[in-house]
Amino acid sequence: MQFPKDFLFGVADADLQVVGEDIARKEEDSEETMWSRYCAEQGKEKPGRAIDRFHNWKQDIGILRDMGIKNYRTSISMARTLKRSGEVNSKAIKWYRNFFKELNKHGIRIYATLYHWELPQYAYEWGGWKNKKTTDLFLKHARVVAETLGEYIEEYFVLNEPRCSSLVAHYYGAHAPGEKNLSSALHVAHNLLLAQGAVFRDLHSLHKDIKISTVVNLGARYAATTDPADVHAAVIADAHKNSWFTYPLFLGKYPDEILSVYEKYLPENYQNDTKDMYVGDRLHSLGMNYYRGDIVRHDTNNELGFRTELIPNGTTTDLGWGVYVPPYYQEGLYDILNQTYFRYRDNGLKRIYIAENGIALNSILVTQNGTINDEKRIWYYNEHIKMVNKALKNGIPVKGYFAWSLMDNFEWSEGYKPDSSFGLIHVDMKTMERKWKKSAYWYKNLVATHKLSV
Ligand code: FCB
Repeated sequence: MQFPKDFLFGVADADLQVVGEDIARKEEDSEETMWSRYCAEQGKEKPGRAIDRFHNWKQDIGILRDMGIKNYRTSISMARTLKRSGEVNSKAIKWYRNFFKELNKHGIRIYATLYHWELPQYAYEWGGWKNKKTTDLFLKHARVVAETLGEYIEEYFVLNEPRCSSLVAHYYGAHAPGEKNLSSALHVAHNLLLAQGAVFRDLHSLHKDIKISTVVNLGARYAATTDPADVHAAVIADAHKNSWFTYPLFLGKYPDEILSVYEKYLPENYQNDTKDMYVGDRLHSLGMNYYRGDIVRHDTNNELGFRTELIPNGTTTDLGWGVYVPPYYQEGLYDILNQTYFRYRDNGLKRIYIAENGIALNSILVTQNGTINDEKRIWYYNEHIKMVNKALKNGIPVKGYFAWSLMDNFEWSEGYKPDSSFGLIHVDMKTMERKWKKSAYWYKNLVATHKLSV
């Protein structure tokens, strides 16, 4: 299976997951993030020193170079660029500048996410995304990045997975700050989407040709049975998980399907706001993170009217996430690429990147004579990249694929447990030693040949 020459193969990570918040705070006086405090309060592993990218950046660029990677997605943290006092943190800017310059020197293009959940604790204390002050802070951060680091950046991704930073963090309570309140979650989603629109307008006013994009996590939702109640539940789940975040972007409104449940929680005159969330064809590309789809069943006990199910005996990752949904159906990624493209192709959607895709696997279990034989990761990538190729053949403009992740790192609420390792490169969390897994050699070959052997 051949990919076009100009198809971008890359890798992704995010600042807070790799840099080492404790180190950055000590060395450059950057701010504490909400994640650090949340993990401490919940008795979870904190971001701490992560994989100490702070000191190891040169070595890590060497690894990217040796893997032949030319496209690298990472984030720039506003807990580092801006101080509580409102000042720009010049030490942090200097660090990013050195890092980015060196990446560019090796011909590596930077895809910079402006918010990969690195909310400063002080902003959380004034209400986080529920307070419009955070929108102003974010606008300032975006400006500072564009003005001080813009010359090194190929393309911007404004947000990473707003569904996670709103619903997962404020309704399901599984991410920082761990709240369980639908009204709060929708309020946060509303302000994130408004902030996204505002950043688009502002950066466009700086440079008309700036490549500015955003990243959402999407997945196809399949009804558990053909019972009309389950079929309807799958429609609601799609609105809840997918189109709540993509409709405003491409259509300037929220999807009707779930409004009867959500409307009472939305701000008065929300319809006026959604117009400001509209981006349309100013969007350079849509970054899609893909990990899995869902099987959906009608459920009257749930206020949303549905529940998702993991079918027993399907293949899972070491974190227990289903790989195929339904368990033996392999076309989930293909389906969501199709659905998304055909939904928005007339509303400004020009190109799609898979901005993240990958699998959590415990390296210890597959190490033989010092070699990490993560065959299941190779299989996983192969299965998903095959679907990207199929979509391409059918005319879907997928222009790139970023593997999650370059290295093992801080996996949010899962911390550093071996079962949550997503890296192509293994990191010894004590010595910080980096080591290639079998999948890293495999990916290197794919990047070089643009060819998948299936
Ligand atoms: C996504 C996040 C990313 C990583 C992967 C496994 O939701 O964007 O930071 O943790 O999941």
